[in-house]
Amino acid sequence: MTLWTFIGRQWTSLPPAPNGDYLKGKVVLMTGANSGIGLESLKHFAGASPERLILCVRSVEPTEKIVLELQSLHENLKVEVVYLDLCDLNTIRSLPEELGKRGVERIDVVINNAGINPGNAVKDPDFTKDGYERTFQSNVLSPLFTSLTLLPLLSNSPKPKILFLGSGLHTSAETDLIERGLLEGESIVAVFNDRTGQGFDNRQIYGESKLLLQMLTRSLIPSLPNINIITVSPGLARTNLGRDFNFSPGFVIFGAPFLLLNARSAEKGARNVSSAVALAEQSYDYWAECGPSYSESSWLSSGNGIKACKAFYKEMIEEVEKISPGLTKELVV
Ligand SMILES: NC(=O)c1ccc[n+]([C@@H]2O[C@H](COP(=O)([O-])OP(=O)(O)OC[C@H]3O[C@@H](n4cnc5c(N)ncnc54)[C@H](OP(=O)(O)O)[C@@H]3O)[C@@H](O)[C@H]2O)c1
Repeated sequence: MTLWTFIGRQWTSLPPAPNGDYLKGKVVLMTGANSGIGLESLKHFAGASPERLILCVRSVEPTEKIVLELQSLHENLKVEVVYLDLCDLNTIRSLPEELGKRGVERIDVVINNAGINPGNAVKDPDFTKDGYERTFQSNVLSPLFTSLTLLPLLSNSPKPKILFLGSGLHTSAETDLIERGLLEGESIVAVFNDRTGQGFDNRQIYGESKLLLQMLTRSLIPSLPNINIITVSPGLARTNLGRDFNFSPGFVIFGAPFLLLNARSAEKGARNVSSAVALAEQSYDYWAECGPSYSESSWLSSGNGIKACKAFYKEMIEEVEKISPGLTKELVV
């Protein structure tokens, strides 16, 4: 994406958040609902008469406080707050059981909102207790694993929908590591989770993880033909996503004003999520500026990009099978 396209997209005037009872009779599950885009989406949903909202978060107490405030405004609002840590696959694995205990038999919409940006420090990769690089697990593996884990509950919905939070940064992400996996006979999953950290760049991993997510969701669409799958790009928005950034004097003087000037409010970012929930009637590879859009990554449409999408999807299915055998059996390959 060129600078001018980025600025043009950021300054596109967005429609207001959808109103009306578009969630009437619907059960919505969202990860990471206590901050930024998730929190603002939650506020939109609270006014749309959902049957039930399920908030899967690692910060349970702050989320419960938010829920109490929302219930004082919307007295019939029914909400479950469930502990989930993207960096602990067991908390995802046990989700159906936890939801069963709370009487949840159907989910209509899953929103994989939670994610991290590990900042701009030059450092070695961090690994989760599951053995994956932290950003890879948080932004790529866990959203996929969460979605597949919830398939039985989604299959009880007449019109199931899964959203993933993508990012425009996928268009400028470096593709060297992916191509190394593809062209040198290593697996892409192995390259991104290499314990030696060879090729890892903490400053690049966020964009790379969103490119991997875009590759994955693109392949998931034909594999789950009965579910509407939408990768939503909220645009650059003022949230807590930059919490791990070190602000050098140069960045404070030159970078920060540019970003602040062009960033949207978190509420405007969230309109992209709530518009996809309310309006998307089919799967969309990319949803931006509150409507169907397109990825500006020319690499994704190149020969290597197409081959890498296929290879990575296959690898990820194998990875999920290792974690939870049988979980991918519903996918149309
Ligand atoms: N802001 C932007 O400009 C932008 C642009 C494109 C895409 N996005 C995407 O939008 C999504 C939301 O981000 P945001 O901008 O709203 O950032 P944010 O304010 O930092 O919110 C991130 C949310 O993810 C949760 N989270 C992080 N790690 C988690 C973990 N291991 N387990 C469970 N929850 C976890 C956080 O919970 P805690 O509060 O407990 O940490 C928080 O609720 C992300 O996927 C991000 O990549 C954002």
